[in-house]
Amino acid sequence: PAPTPSYYASVERPYSASLEARPARAAEERLDLRVLQKRPDPLGDDFDYPAAFGSLDLDELAHDVDAVLTTSQDWWPADFGHYGPLVVRMVWHCAGTYRVGDGRGGASASLQRFAPVDSWPDNRNLDKARRLLWPVKKKYGRRISWADLMVFAGNRALETMGFRTFGYAGGRVDVFHPDDVDWGPEAGWLGDERHTGVRTLDEPLAADQLGLIYVNPEGPNTVPDAVASARDIRVTFRRMGFDDEETVALIAGGHTFGKTHGVADPKYHLGPEPARADLAQQGLGWANSYGTGNAGDTITSGLDGAWTPTPTQWDNSYLENLFGYEWDVALSPAGLWQWVPRGGAGAGTVPDAHDPAKTHPPTFLTTDLALRYDRAYGPIARRFRDNPDQLADAFARAWFKLTHLDLGPRERYLGPLVPPEPLIWQDPVPADAGAAPDVAALKQRILDSGLTIPELVETAWASASTFRDSDKRGGSNGGRLRLEPQRSWAVNKPDQLDRVLRTLDALRHGISMADLIVLAGCTAVERAAGVPVPFTPGRTDAAPEWTDVASFAALEPLADGFRNYLDPRARRPAEHLLVDKARQLTLTATEMTVLVGGLRTLEHGVLSNAFFVDLLDGPPDTATRVDLVFGSHGELRAFAEAYASDDAAEGFVRDFVVAWDKVMNLGRY
Ligand code: HEM
Repeated sequence: PAPTPSYYASVERPYSASLEARPARAAEERLDLRVLQKRPDPLGDDFDYPAAFGSLDLDELAHDVDAVLTTSQDWWPADFGHYGPLVVRMVWHCAGTYRVGDGRGGASASLQRFAPVDSWPDNRNLDKARRLLWPVKKKYGRRISWADLMVFAGNRALETMGFRTFGYAGGRVDVFHPDDVDWGPEAGWLGDERHTGVRTLDEPLAADQLGLIYVNPEGPNTVPDAVASARDIRVTFRRMGFDDEETVALIAGGHTFGKTHGVADPKYHLGPEPARADLAQQGLGWANSYGTGNAGDTITSGLDGAWTPTPTQWDNSYLENLFGYEWDVALSPAGLWQWVPRGGAGAGTVPDAHDPAKTHPPTFLTTDLALRYDRAYGPIARRFRDNPDQLADAFARAWFKLTHLDLGPRERYLGPLVPPEPLIWQDPVPADAGAAPDVAALKQRILDSGLTIPELVETAWASASTFRDSDKRGGSNGGRLRLEPQRSWAVNKPDQLDRVLRTLDALRHGISMADLIVLAGCTAVERAAGVPVPFTPGRTDAAPEWTDVASFAALEPLADGFRNYLDPRARRPAEHLLVDKARQLTLTATEMTVLVGGLRTLEHGVLSNAFFVDLLDGPPDTATRVDLVFGSHGELRAFAEAYASDDAAEGFVRDFVVAWDKVMNLGRY
């Protein structure tokens, strides 16, 4: 039998009990490393998007977008002669896929252009909205990404309908391959196998049914109960980072515009969604066999009607209507639950979208009524009704947040329309790092501090490895490891962390804690490796008052295979969570491998390939799933073999240092 390597025996692993096998979803049975590959795209590796975007004239772009918005096309005639509402809905559904839990989705990810999101029932006819914008995308090409163009068009839509937006930043790089996101366990559209107990929604999901952006407009699982619907709205909007006031502002602001479409039953009249539609349809879906198939015969949600008498104009009429009428539940022509004013009130106040001879009463959704009848939403909505300027400000800010939340720190924002005011959800850090620190002197103090190599390495890793590529949050800059909630996360060993940070703080001189934490880790690796480890200063320390504790809670790792940590709350097998974390850290499979191997031996103060050598000799009883996968998975075993070979020791150390340096600098722009 293979000898048990000494470091397995000596390391405390309080969580190893929970590293036992967990049932994997069918799709997870095979660990797929392809998510760690960078896939080529037509713009090439050298393409510099900020420079290309910088050459754009945003006034000219605005002029072109406005022309698209206000020029009705015969192939898809515009309601009320204005595509603004359709485009606002498109952008909302694009940005609205974002979820704080794992930072995935959002406007930058641009998922709406690709399957499966392009084909979600909730995204019906948004294929047309994107196609309407193609001539503009074509004209500007690589100078504006689809995601930047869509968000820009959303702002122009609002502006051309009389609303003053808060600002706009470019910076979303064009996407050619959709991110592979866990959208839920269901096999069929609008399935709901994601709620347990009374109505607990699985993490990190932020939609109530597969194929919806958020909640069912008719009410929970089509039951038209406004109060119950408010509960679902609250859960799903919070998962995206919005509080009650922002939620009310977004829904009230959004539904000030446009209408719902459901003159006939989608089931009988709509063809397949884009992903299943005939090739000849060229990416468009839901061919409509009802009447002309468009204009007044359009079928989208199956709900039908407009909220206000002025659907292409910013005003207060949504809230005036919401509180101005008593509402009765009614069936749309397609047979879905919606609400109309009691006793025929409001008849004749709403124009038809295409026929000037026709008028309608206003129509509201169950989810709209939630804004009136929920105990928390109600008072906010009334205040907005009585103070339209407060609604305008709240909607402008919430819309900006919605469309920029996943873009990351302000340093990534591009263009002349960036609002100067810093916002707490941008996780701001001070800009000026001051003079360059005396690195050599600091290194000596770190080595003399009495702190151990494992303590210093773990602390630097705890700081930098919070980065997640999905929304560019976290990372070592800001030094938020010193602050709540990070300093109390179990994965960070709070007692040890507290001691390390106090010791480092005491020897600090002319350097931010954010920098010192990383420098300390680099110094420790350098000592263990016996080779130089690069360090790039310039990080600054974020203030507690600029740190949203509740929102940072979402960055807590429930698993970190690099540290062999697995929280009992983690829902997927540890090795899958390792790959997911590697993906968030933008690592290749090789970088992931070398980091795991190196961090294991650094737990003992040395950097070597011994972890792989010992593992391939025969794993010890204490090996975790993350350890074992490097011997069991074909590709990972191949990497492990390369690093365990007799000629690999030097290359291992060299590769480790490069990967370590990469992680230490994630999230710096
Ligand atoms: C349209 C539901 C929140 C903007 C619609 C439609 C539904 C719906 C069913 C009709 C689609 C159709 O048949 O054409 C919901 C639900 C929400 C919500 C359940 C959350 C509880 C929002 C938000 C915004 C927004 C936050 C924007 C900030 C719009 C716009 C339209 C629309 C502008 C009109 C589109 C058009 O005229 O073509 N919404 N929505 N909605 N929604 Fe929402």
